[in-house]
Amino acid sequence: MKNYIIENIGQLVTCSGFSAKHGKEMSDLGIVENATVVVTGGIIAYAGARCRDLPLDGTKTYERIDAGGNAVLPGFIDSHTHFVFAGYREEEFAWRMNGDSYLSIMQRGGGIYRTVDATRRASAGELKALAQRRLDRMFEMGVTTVEGKSGYGLDRETELKQLRVMQELGTHPVDIVATYLGAHAVPEGYTEKTYIAFMLEEVMPVVRRENLAECCDIFCEKGVFNIENTARFLEAARAMGFRLKLHADEIVTTGGAELAAAQNALSADHLLRASEEGIAALAKSNTVATLLPCTAFSLREEYAQGRKMIDAGCAVAIATDFNPGSCFTHSIPLTIALACIRMHLTPEEAVTALTINAAAALGKAGSIGSIDVGKKGDILILAYPSYRFLPYYAGMNCVKKTIKS
Ligand code: NIG
Ligand code: FE
Repeated sequence: MKNYIIENIGQLVTCSGFSAKHGKEMSDLGIVENATVVVTGGIIAYAGARCRDLPLDGTKTYERIDAGGNAVLPGFIDSHTHFVFAGYREEEFAWRMNGDSYLSIMQRGGGIYRTVDATRRASAGELKALAQRRLDRMFEMGVTTVEGKSGYGLDRETELKQLRVMQELGTHPVDIVATYLGAHAVPEGYTEKTYIAFMLEEVMPVVRRENLAECCDIFCEKGVFNIENTARFLEAARAMGFRLKLHADEIVTTGGAELAAAQNALSADHLLRASEEGIAALAKSNTVATLLPCTAFSLREEYAQGRKMIDAGCAVAIATDFNPGSCFTHSIPLTIALACIRMHLTPEEAVTALTINAAAALGKAGSIGSIDVGKKGDILILAYPSYRFLPYYAGMNCVKKTIKS
C-alpha cells in the first residue's frame, strides 16, 4: 500500500462525519481551503489546512500528489447496484418507450426473468469478466465502494454464483459490499410463501456460513412480495445476522418506507411513491432514504421527492441502481445531475448523498464516506476547483484522479 501526501488542494470537501446526516445537516460539507491530506498505509493520517508539520511516519516513503488547486472529495459510494448479471434487455427499453409498462413486461415472463435465464446460463468466469469491466468504469467515475446485489438466479446455485463472483472480485480496487437479493422475484413453481421458506432454509444459511453477503434485500412491490411477507422475511433475515435493505414504494405505494423504518433497516430504496407517513417515519428513524434518479429517468416516471424528504428531516443517499432492466446506466455524473436538476437537491446535498450518507446506507459510516483521520484513504481529485462543477458540468465526468486506500 502506498503512502501519499496530496498537496495544493484548493478546496478540500471533507464531508466530515461518522453517521448519516439528516435534513439541514446535509448542507454542511466541512470545507477547508488551501489544504493537505496525508494517507499512511491506506488510512487518512491528516486532513486539514496546509501546514509545515505534517504527521508523517518517518519509516515510510511518501508519494507527493499535486492537486493543482482543484477540489478534493471522498470517494463516491454507489450504495445500490445490480452489477453482476449476464445478457441485456434493450428491446424492453424500446417497448417501454412505446408505452409498455415495467410490471406488465415482468408479468409476461420478461423483465427480471429474462436476466435470470441469461445469468443462470453464464459461467462464473463470464460473469466475473463482465462485472470486472463494469467496476473498472465505475472507478473512472470516482466510485471507491459499490454495493452489489444478487437476485438474478433465484435458485440456490446461481444466487451463490453471483455472490461468489463478488467475493472473488475482492481484489479489485473498488470495494464491494454484497447483498443477497434472492427475494427479487418469485420463481416459477413457487408461491411467495414457499419461495421465502426455500430462501430461509436452503440458501441464506449457506450465504451466512460462507460470509457471502452482509446485507439482505427484498423487492416489496405489488405482484412481487407483499408487505406482510416482506415483514416476515426481514425479521427472519435479521435473526440470521443480515443487515436489512428494502426496495420500497417503487412502482406502487405499499407502505415499504414505514416498514423499513420500523425494522430499523439500513436503507429504504427507490421511494418514488412513498407516502407522507412513510417520509415522516423515515425522518424519525436511522434508515437512510436511498433515491435512484436514473431509474425514474429511464422508466420515464416521476422522481422521488428528494427535496421534500430532506426538508422533512430524512437522511437521503443517492445511487445509480445499475441493472439491465429498469436502469442500464451506472453514470455517477448523470445521477448527480438528475438529483440536483430534477429532484431539487442542492449540490451540497448531492455530495453528502453520494458520500457519508451512502456509507451509512451500507452501515459503513465509521470507516468510509468522508475525509476524516482514521478512515480509508478513498479520495478523488476533480479537474475543477469546486464541487459545484459536479452537477453543473451535467452528465460529464469531473473526476481527474481516483485514489483507493
Ligand atoms: O431496482 N426493482 C427491482 N429491481 C431492479 C430492477 C431489476 C431489473 O429490472 O432487472 C430495480 O429497479
Ligand atoms: Fe434496484
